[in-house]
Amino acid sequence: MAPRFHKLTHFHRRDANRTFACGYCHYPNGQGRPENSSLAGLSVGYITQQIADYRNGLRKSSEPGRIAAGFMIASAKNATDAEVKTSAEYFASIKYRPWIKVIETQSVPKTQVAGFMLVATEGAGNEPIGQRIIELADDVGRASIRDSRSGFTAYVPVGSIKRGEALVTAGGRGKTTVCASCHGQDLKGAGDVPPLAGRSPSYTVRQLYDFQSGARAGLLSPLMKETVAKLSMDDMVAIAAYTASRAP
Ligand code: HEC
Ligand code: HEC
Repeated sequence: MAPRFHKLTHFHRRDANRTFACGYCHYPNGQGRPENSSLAGLSVGYITQQIADYRNGLRKSSEPGRIAAGFMIASAKNATDAEVKTSAEYFASIKYRPWIKVIETQSVPKTQVAGFMLVATEGAGNEPIGQRIIELADDVGRASIRDSRSGFTAYVPVGSIKRGEALVTAGGRGKTTVCASCHGQDLKGAGDVPPLAGRSPSYTVRQLYDFQSGARAGLLSPLMKETVAKLSMDDMVAIAAYTASRAP
């Protein structure tokens, strides 16, 4: 498995101008991976708007060197309007399935980055989770060949789900807004406001952080401004632990 894993998961900067199928990164059924995002079940209007934001330089990464985000920006620019329409309709028509188990824990495997994901370092033992989310493929070999039946497990700090629930459902005493008022009942999405339930918590934290830093400043992003203004990194981790733990 090792050489195959390397070949299929090592992108290089020089690949940035090549066009890849959306499903290569997001999975053919749109379930997605921690370094990108799930597309299944997003609305056509939302997907189309995000592509426009990427094309217009309004949706970047807070980490300018982040290669994965660069690939998405290149993909948005390389795709024709007809291709965007077809892919948006396709992904919107698919139901997002439960994909990520969320487990509170004090201790996680030591990890390294391989193929854009965190992967447990063999034989390295465990370490304290601290205030991190560690999202790992249930089977690295299957994830590396984009097996859309092999999901992920997200380890989150002990107590974070409950803390996140207080922020998401009650605004954490004025620290943030009640999410369901826009994201719909049970956070399943409402119109072109995207669903949050059961989605990758690593992805969710990146988005909250990008809204706060201003790296994500698309047409609809101002609606998230008040939500993220006062959030600390620990708040974002707790919110993402909670939203990811909800049934999609
Ligand atoms: C080479 C990998 C790659 C390819 C190919 C790719 N994407 Fe992405 N896409 C990403 C990454 C990485 C992100 C997340 C960037 C971030 O963290 O903000 C993303 C994010 C997105 C989002 C935002 C989702 C959300 O919930 O806001 C949409 C929509 C999207 N991609 C659509 C597409 C479509 C449609 C195609 C094909 C035309 C495509 N992508 C091809 C890597 C890719
Ligand atoms: C006033 C309405 C509103 C409220 C309240 C709101 N959101 Fe949002 N949210 C939006 C809109 C609109 C978008 C799409 C923004 C864009 O396209 O840039 C969004 C996008 C997001 C995204 C990115 C999703 C993706 O697929 O990329 C996350 C994560 C998110 N919101 C989390 C939250 C959380 C957590 C809360 C509550 C603490 C919350 N939102 C409250 C309107 C809202």
